[in-house]
Amino acid sequence: MLNVTTIAGVRSRRRELWQRAQTVALVPTMGALHDGHLRLVDRAGELADEVWVSIFVNPTQFGPGEDFERYPRDLERDRELLATRGVALLFNPSTKEMYPRPGVTTVDLPELAGGMCGAFRPGHFQGVALVVTKLLAIAQPEVAVFGAKDWQQSAIIRRLVEDLNLPVRVEVVPTVREADGLAMSSRNAYLTSQERQAATVLQRALHAGEEAIRGGLIDGRAVERRIAATVAEEPLARLQYAAAVDPDTLQPLGTVTRRALLAVAVHVGATRLIDNLLLEVS
Ligand code: PAF
Repeated sequence: MLNVTTIAGVRSRRRELWQRAQTVALVPTMGALHDGHLRLVDRAGELADEVWVSIFVNPTQFGPGEDFERYPRDLERDRELLATRGVALLFNPSTKEMYPRPGVTTVDLPELAGGMCGAFRPGHFQGVALVVTKLLAIAQPEVAVFGAKDWQQSAIIRRLVEDLNLPVRVEVVPTVREADGLAMSSRNAYLTSQERQAATVLQRALHAGEEAIRGGLIDGRAVERRIAATVAEEPLARLQYAAAVDPDTLQPLGTVTRRALLAVAVHVGATRLIDNLLLEVS
């Protein structure tokens, strides 16, 4: 596996592959890799000649008081995992390499970024959209692979790629879960064992919403209340939001008719967790 820290290094490898007419699938990550990331890597391997992974804890997507400083970092372990998974190139730039001077360019999709997580993490999706745009411009992959757990993020990326005519296919891979249903996340590492048990409430709440819809409840707000009520049953959990939205536009669904995305953000102790469930409603 090539370990590359500079943009020039990535570009030089990219040129070599173009000469050989070989394709690249990029998996952008912030490291602290778990099985969910490895699933993205495996999927990427099915879609291109080489799999490239970026590990960059992007400061512009963390707000003041968020966990940028304490975000889990374990580059050595990540490197080993990726090498055994057949990854061809790891791009691990410094902050200075990615942001040599304060940027003045923004990538903003207010309609998609304003609600759900965006309502509680102002600036977060502008940071994500900017860094992903930069990573796509740097690596110029044929495919970029993201996880469905961060649904709002993937919807924003799909849309920015479409709007900016970026020559890349966006592949979104289903969420990988622990045996008890908890969505895998680097932030699960923050949970105490009691909180870890309590965290299963996210799945229960989403399923309560699904059951309500399958039982005939079509009022989006009422579905959100059903999800919230399930979260409220768990003493260690504090709901941030429950949403029933259109999976593409992320706009709230007054009436749940066809496709719906149910999403939650919950604090379990001091840790903020998110999860979602995509439903086809007949
Ligand atoms: O999902 C993540 O890990 C990050 O938001 C991403 C897409 C790598 C951008 O920093």
